[in-house]
Amino acid sequence: MFLRYLSHFFNHRLNKSQRDIQEFQQKMEYITLGRTGLRVSVMGLGCGGLSCLGQSTGKSEDESINLVRKALDFGINFIDTAETYRTERIVGNALKGLRREDVVLSTKAPMYRDNKLITADDLVQAAENSLRKLNTDYLDIYHFHAVEEKEYQYVAEELVPIQLRLRDEGKIRFLGITERFMADPTHMMLKRAIQDDCWDVVCVGFNLLNQTARTEVLTTTIQKNIGVLGMYAVRRALSNIENLKIAFSMLAQTGVVDGTIVEDDHPLGFLFHEKGAVSLTDAAYRYCSHEPGIHVVLFSTGSMEHLQANVTSLLSPPLPHEDLIKIKELFGKVNHFSGHW
Ligand SMILES: NC(=O)c1ccc[n+]([C@@H]2O[C@H](COP(=O)([O-])OP(=O)(O)OC[C@H]3O[C@@H](n4cnc5c(N)ncnc54)[C@H](OP(=O)(O)O)[C@@H]3O)[C@@H](O)[C@H]2O)c1
Repeated sequence: MFLRYLSHFFNHRLNKSQRDIQEFQQKMEYITLGRTGLRVSVMGLGCGGLSCLGQSTGKSEDESINLVRKALDFGINFIDTAETYRTERIVGNALKGLRREDVVLSTKAPMYRDNKLITADDLVQAAENSLRKLNTDYLDIYHFHAVEEKEYQYVAEELVPIQLRLRDEGKIRFLGITERFMADPTHMMLKRAIQDDCWDVVCVGFNLLNQTARTEVLTTTIQKNIGVLGMYAVRRALSNIENLKIAFSMLAQTGVVDGTIVEDDHPLGFLFHEKGAVSLTDAAYRYCSHEPGIHVVLFSTGSMEHLQANVTSLLSPPLPHEDLIKIKELFGKVNHFSGHW
């Protein structure tokens, strides 16, 4: 009785922001990232995408640092960045003073330097730079970034041995590879990569408009216990109604989606009902967060408000079964569109 009184008393004294933090911390869900064994939150803060933590939309570095800290406060322990996003230093600053082992850091080596494929020396240098900017002496996951099928053989034969050496030296813990989803919407590169045994983690494009990863990638990654990060849950197409309508007309032009629904006020209006989604982005994130085989849904934002909304969505139950069936009927055949243009 006395304890209940105490907890009520303290709750009353917490301000709204502190109550939100407490609530998200209590609700945050964690999962094992495949064979890495790492315990990670089911969502990861992406520090690239169209937002780059708000750096692409005019936010200050301090605002971006606060965004990373708020995500960590909410219980997110997975942070994904890359040399090319130019947000590694921001992440490094945001992590100052925290226990390194409380955060799982995923970053990426670029595939090109001066318009040429990176060499072994470039890769070592890139890893050193990332370590320095992130203020750490090890990277949990070090990926090759946005690899295309035509580059894969070079990566596997020339660069993976260097990656393994970096792992033996303790500079990285696990090897990862990410696809260039916009140019490779049927996952040609990843389909090839997951036949090899060196990848601990892959990053794949998946959203309600392009579900091809389910059969092309996830069946194998589940079998091989490879850790999977999902990207492009919202991207451009699902970020607002205007973009959704553009996406629909693009899809309708190719004949794989029924063009008549483009005329409707909201082409995905059927998703919004009492037991359904509360917004377009809510539908998009919830669609991905319950996909078997995807361990961590990466999302990117430069906005505190969106951060909070997305954490809520990613912790919400799956969309109702009938809605999922309709999404499959509508978009199940789409295999050429990533959600970005
Ligand atoms: N090849 C690769 O390796 C690769 C490629 C792409 C992405 N990634 C990784 O995946 C992460 C996620 O990127 P993504 O493009 O897949 O992100 P996403 O979460 O699918 O899309 C984010 C976009 O939607 C907007 N948004 C987010 N929440 C919103 C909300 N609640 N309401 C309205 N708009 C909202 C964001 O703008 P606001 O700033 O306005 O919120 C941003 O423009 C990246 O940061 C990166 O770490 C990797």
